[in-house]
Amino acid sequence: MSDLSSNSPARDSFKSNLGFVLATAGSAVGLGNLWRFPFMAGTSGGGAFVLLYLIILVVIGVSLLLVEFSVGRHGKRNAVESYKKIHPAMQWVGYLGFISAFIFLSYFSVVGGWTIHYAIKSVTGLLALSPDQMGGAFGGFISHPFLPLVYHVIFMGATIYIIAKGVSGGIEKWSKILMPALFVMMLILLIRSVTLPGAAAGIAWYLKPDFSKINGGTWVAALGQVFFSLSVGMSGMVTYASYLNKKENLPKVALQVSLTDTLIAILAGFMIFPAVFAFGMEPGAGPGLLFITLPAVFSQMPLGTVFSFIFFVLVFVAALTSSISILEMPVTYIIEKKGMSRPKAALLVGGISFVLGIAVSFSFGIWGGFKIFGMDIFTLFDYFGSNISLPLGALGASIAVGWFWKKKGATGEITNNGELSNNGIANGWFFLVKWIIPVFIFVIFLSSVGILKF
Ligand code: PHE
Repeated sequence: MSDLSSNSPARDSFKSNLGFVLATAGSAVGLGNLWRFPFMAGTSGGGAFVLLYLIILVVIGVSLLLVEFSVGRHGKRNAVESYKKIHPAMQWVGYLGFISAFIFLSYFSVVGGWTIHYAIKSVTGLLALSPDQMGGAFGGFISHPFLPLVYHVIFMGATIYIIAKGVSGGIEKWSKILMPALFVMMLILLIRSVTLPGAAAGIAWYLKPDFSKINGGTWVAALGQVFFSLSVGMSGMVTYASYLNKKENLPKVALQVSLTDTLIAILAGFMIFPAVFAFGMEPGAGPGLLFITLPAVFSQMPLGTVFSFIFFVLVFVAALTSSISILEMPVTYIIEKKGMSRPKAALLVGGISFVLGIAVSFSFGIWGGFKIFGMDIFTLFDYFGSNISLPLGALGASIAVGWFWKKKGATGEITNNGELSNNGIANGWFFLVKWIIPVFIFVIFLSSVGILKF
């Protein structure tokens, strides 16, 4: 994917199938799976949330990923112009993604920074604490006025650096080793977690849906989480696919990426919830869940320090391969529309997001009492981003493809003009995109604002 580094006016493309699959899987698998999925499941009803998540993923998530792929590869330009190519009235989807990118990047970088701190802390005494001291240690760290900002600088700096240089072969090669390494580490942790005394209650809580917990809020939370985790609704995948050549089997990649992404999220739950119950912690602990629970698990393992260090480094890398996809979206637009150089554009967007991130970081501490619509800044950004902006972007994306793009054009894009002989899949997909997905998102939306009750 070194091609993204190019500043030449002629647009390059991914040279290898693997490069694109790794980049999109890298974008999808990140803090959304490891940090946000368990904490949302924890605050939104456990097994009930997991069930809704899986339903939404199958019915609309995979197809929407394919929607973004098709729009991007067809457009071969930044997201705004790619949507414009389908219909000028749909450009707003690209602009909305542009705004969302700043919001996501700001808090993603703050939380990404926490993973660096935890990697370091793993080898400098964190694991000597008892499980019930982990919450206090986490709270002390995130509410500190400066320390989290140091890591926020490092994380944002790394993101800007990679995008300024172009997503070079290095990351591509690394991902091949690091993604499987993350998977293996998760399995090791999972085994330790489910064998802790008292773990069974956590497994039951995670797997048994309690239907009384399901309401409009749970649906929206699950909807937002599916979009966040698959990186759809923000045109990040439109942007990546715009660098793609015409040979790729898009439906296959969409399926592969969705399966990998979901597997990692589900495993993250298995790693965390048994331990939460074993240690008598709170599943609804919120954004700190991963950082409070896992060190407690590591502290109960032989070689815990080593495992903990490696684990948090891997989470950091997974977060980085996601944050670069968030930054790439507005950067591509600025380069192509404003003619700015790649490093300058990366610095500009990253710089603004960094400043927004300072406010997010403060909201965990000195600005904790400052509320807008009853939410602190982090909660507001996260809520607006995932529950409003991504569903709206996804709604726009499905309307653009289902209603403004001729069926022949859209299905032609994902069948590679008939070459792939997957017409059945393409027709089914188009039907879902045109009739089911917009209605589904709209109904969930109405229920979230209380207009519809179910
Ligand atoms: N999907 C990423 C994750 O799970 C986050 C992300 C959201 C990336 C939106 C791009 C766009 O961590």
